[in-house]
Amino acid sequence: MYKIRPLNKVKRQIVVPADKSISHRAAIISSISKGKTHIKPYLVSEDTQATLDCLKICGVRVNLNKEGLLTVEGVGLYLSRKKRVTLSAGESGTTLRILSGLLCAQKFSTRFNSANSLEKRPMGRITVPLKLMGADIKGKCVKSEEYPPLKINPAKLKGIRYRLPIPSAQVKSALLLASLYAKGETQIIEPAASRDHTERMLSLFKAKLKRQGKSIISSRVKMLISPNELFIPSDFSSASFFIVLGLILKNSEILIKNVNINPTRCGLLRVLIRMGAKIEIINKKDYYEPYTDILVKSSSLRATEVEKKEIPSMIDEIPILAVAASFAKGKTRLKGVGELKVKETDRINSLRYNLTKVGVEICAYKYKKQGREDWALEIKGNPCFYKKGRVEFRSFSDHRTAMSLIILAAAGERESKIDEIQCINKSFPEFIPLIESL
Ligand code: S3P
Repeated sequence: MYKIRPLNKVKRQIVVPADKSISHRAAIISSISKGKTHIKPYLVSEDTQATLDCLKICGVRVNLNKEGLLTVEGVGLYLSRKKRVTLSAGESGTTLRILSGLLCAQKFSTRFNSANSLEKRPMGRITVPLKLMGADIKGKCVKSEEYPPLKINPAKLKGIRYRLPIPSAQVKSALLLASLYAKGETQIIEPAASRDHTERMLSLFKAKLKRQGKSIISSRVKMLISPNELFIPSDFSSASFFIVLGLILKNSEILIKNVNINPTRCGLLRVLIRMGAKIEIINKKDYYEPYTDILVKSSSLRATEVEKKEIPSMIDEIPILAVAASFAKGKTRLKGVGELKVKETDRINSLRYNLTKVGVEICAYKYKKQGREDWALEIKGNPCFYKKGRVEFRSFSDHRTAMSLIILAAAGERESKIDEIQCINKSFPEFIPLIESL
């Protein structure tokens, strides 16, 4: 049990750790490039460590020092000379799904294991299109879905034209990595823009990639060239907890430095501004990824409507948006949130369970559009709802649920508790020391 005491009048400047999605991609793409890459800062967390451990087993020399500098000695497009390797992605879906695209084109066989929540997450979304590219990949079949572990054998790949059934950056990235080895062009069509970190990173490493409207077209390469030095901005998803904290606390002001502000990632900012949030973007810089300082001030929030097409740009921020919506005047409605059911936990369920405990009216319902089933969430907010305190929350061992509830509890008036917070180490081990320092 972890106890959370209320906060108020927070006036601080903070820095949150490096972006998780970019860290995974930087390590993976540096490994298959020519030259040494010095990456700073690399996110130190369970998920990003899982990626490094897999790369090491595949014969890549990686060294992460105490200052957060990661050095990767690229080995070129083909990794290990071993015949077979056994890898574990732990609980990192990004490690498993993205690396699989690369492993399908290697000259060795892989057994790709996972742990806990990841064992129950669907893999058909990557195995189906990778098989269309000629890959020899299969997961454990249960009913009509595939799950980890994945078994991958060497195969010759060919380019395909593929329309993603759901907007997923992990699926898109797996296919883009496979396309580097595939004969002919690979065209990926996105129903809505998901995070484009892989495209940006591959372009930085001189891959042949172009965007045409909703499509990304990629071709085989002879080699990728390392830029040698790479700076990773702070993670917008980690910053989002402190953005919302600054808005819902009274008399507060938080400045968060060097946050990645890639438009495909920061949909939450657009929604919060619509809700009346006082947010300033200061000192924006352009690099392969844009980044900026974000200043947030206590605000009176009002409800909003969030459309399905906005969800991919804020897919990991729905739990913290639900917290903001609980403090807003009126009913906030979010459409197209079905993907939340297949994250580390069913986040629709975890939100319903916890928000109901503090007296927020939350309703989740299924609906059908163009023959496809999806989910919507409605949250009836009330700026004064959270007076009673002494609540016991449940994280369901999900890092983003846990951090969102700690923010909610910090804006309460009495001490609350949460059952399990170890899960936070998955993405943001510095979260607890940082919030305690406030
Ligand atoms: C990620 C993509 C998203 C996101 C996940 C990280 C990535 O998953 O939820 O936390 O780094 O590509 P989906 O691709 O399943 O939407």
